[in-house]
Amino acid sequence: MKILSVVGARPQFVKLAPIHHAAKAAGVDHVIVHTGQHYDPMLSDVFFDDLGIGAPDVHLGVGSGSHGVQTGAMLAALDAVFDEHRPDWVLVYGDTNSTVAAALSAVKMHIPLAHLEAGLRSFNRRMPEEHNRVMTDHAADLLLAPTQVAVDHLTREGLADRTILVGDVMTDVLLATRAEVLTSVLLAELGLAQGEFYLATIHRAENTDDPQRLEELVEGLAGLDRPVVLLAHPRVVAKAAAYGIDLTRGGLIAHAPLAYPDLIAAALASAGVITDSGGLQKEAFLLGVLCTTVRTETEWVETVRLGWNVLANTAGEIAAAAMRPIPPASEEAPYGDGHAAERVIAVLADARG
Ligand code: UD1
Repeated sequence: MKILSVVGARPQFVKLAPIHHAAKAAGVDHVIVHTGQHYDPMLSDVFFDDLGIGAPDVHLGVGSGSHGVQTGAMLAALDAVFDEHRPDWVLVYGDTNSTVAAALSAVKMHIPLAHLEAGLRSFNRRMPEEHNRVMTDHAADLLLAPTQVAVDHLTREGLADRTILVGDVMTDVLLATRAEVLTSVLLAELGLAQGEFYLATIHRAENTDDPQRLEELVEGLAGLDRPVVLLAHPRVVAKAAAYGIDLTRGGLIAHAPLAYPDLIAAALASAGVITDSGGLQKEAFLLGVLCTTVRTETEWVETVRLGWNVLANTAGEIAAAAMRPIPPASEEAPYGDGHAAERVIAVLADARG
């Protein structure tokens, strides 16, 4: 069996790692295509290196651009790649522009398409990720859902017969990495004490692209009761520079993004994470770290239901949420057992026959 994975943005490299290892272990031919959506070494290369993926087989070098320009450039480049490799499956991940481009290209070429992390919904149609995931789910032949909630969404949309619950592959990586993690590099580098700082990431368009919104968030983070380390995605750095917003002020320290093992160590060392990232909400939950999500809704509703995540949109809500106490422990494991990737490979092999 030959699987061709298309990835392009940071969270997809994390999801790719366990799939690649499981494919190798099962003797499956796995071709990796990197669209080039993310190209900064700290958003791309470090994940391939640290997570043992090796170099991608094909790199499209598409880079940044408006949604249409970026997605269109990927589409234009993918036909020839799919034609050359003729895989049994094209596998797409999550909800980025790389996901929807590869999905459209694969269905047009009649190549079976599987969507990993299918069925997530924010029900916020202003989010680019929501368009991408809905369109990809409806285009795909096989929907690999991470949670029962995702299965329920797909069922309501009439897609139950294409859906399989496999668990969450980010849990696979997280559990493997946590077993190895030692000390956070941030403690020595920034002179911080264990449990005495918050770890923040803000990168979504809703939070970065309007100057007033970004200023409100930055000022709110700077005034919290503990120092805040902001792992600044290039998008927030670019927007802050354009608007004349200073990302290091008060208790707020802007820092370059971290490699995956360093991010996990930093989250574990923190008093809580404050984020608009999907992956980090779940990572915090799995690590038993409080999460405050700077959005009006989340796809990872289980983290909220079990008390580890609170949605907070204004500076006041963020401050109140960040300082809340730890919730009672729960035995629930809504994100699976850390073996989702093996299940994905088995399901793809079965569905092919
Ligand atoms: C993308 C995904 C988002 C995901 C995020 C993870 C879409 C629509 N969004 O958002 O779902 O959560 O990745 O990080 O696909 N830039 C750089 N260097 C890079 C990449 C980006 O400087 O390597 C800057 C550029 O100014 C670029 C901006 O960041 O215009 C936005 O990048 P883009 O890939 O369009 O979206 P992300 O915000 O990274």
